[in-house]
Amino acid sequence: MKVVTTIKEVRENVKQWKKEGQTVGFVPTMGYLHEGHGSLITKARENNDKVVVSIFVNPMQFGPTEDLDSYPRDLEKDSKYCESLGVDLIFHPEPSEMYHDDFSSYVDMSVLTEELCGLSRPVHFRGVCTVVNKLFNIVQPDRAYFGEKDAQQLAIIKHMVQDLNMDIEVVGCPIIREEDGLAKSSRNTYLSPEERKAALVLSQTINLAKQLIADGEKDADVLVAKMKENIEKEPLAKIDYVKAVNGLTMQQQKEIKAPMLIAMAVYIGKTRLIDNTILH
Ligand code: PAJ
Repeated sequence: MKVVTTIKEVRENVKQWKKEGQTVGFVPTMGYLHEGHGSLITKARENNDKVVVSIFVNPMQFGPTEDLDSYPRDLEKDSKYCESLGVDLIFHPEPSEMYHDDFSSYVDMSVLTEELCGLSRPVHFRGVCTVVNKLFNIVQPDRAYFGEKDAQQLAIIKHMVQDLNMDIEVVGCPIIREEDGLAKSSRNTYLSPEERKAALVLSQTINLAKQLIADGEKDADVLVAKMKENIEKEPLAKIDYVKAVNGLTMQQQKEIKAPMLIAMAVYIGKTRLIDNTILH
């Protein structure tokens, strides 16, 4: 496995592989890898000749008051984990390699980015779309792997690939959870032991929603109200949003029917966590 920091080195490696007729699977990440990332890498490993993982904490997708500086980083541990999963190349650029001083081109998507996380994180998806577009141009993968943990991000990337005619298959992968149900996240490391317990309210509320739907609930407003009521019982939790939306357009939908995304963002103390379930 190689670890490279320049765009030029990625291009040289990929060019050689393509010349040999090898397919390339790509997993973009911000590092501090866990089994959620690992599941994407494993899927990429199964279906491609070569696997590239990028590790880049992208400044452009963080708002001015967000956790860019404190975002956890551990390249050594990440490298060992990638090596154990059979990754061929890690791309770990400095921000200056990705964004020159006079950088001024952005990928801005409307509609899908304006709901859910886009409301509380106004610059976030512009940063995600721009960096993923750049990474796609650098790595030129055949397939790219994204988690359903960030369901809105996955829908947005699929839409961007379609809108901009990128010749890349975007593969969505299910949410990987801790044994007690908490969705794995690099940000879970911010939680104190007490907050870690309180954070279970997210997955418990997702399970409640699934149960209500299985029991025949058809009204999205009723579902969301019951979910909010459940979260409000946890003193350390503060709701950012709980919504039931069309899974493709991210627009609110009154009737519960597939494709639907039931998603939430909840602060546990200062840490903002997300969770969701998708009705396919
Ligand atoms: P990051 O949060 O590091 O996540 C990288 C990928 O791992 C995303 O596709 C995310 O959905 C997936 N992932 C994270 N936790 C997961 C879990 N518990 N189960 C399954 N998949 C999980 O998402 C980003 O980075 C960035 O926005 C990025 C796309 C790299 C652009 O900067």
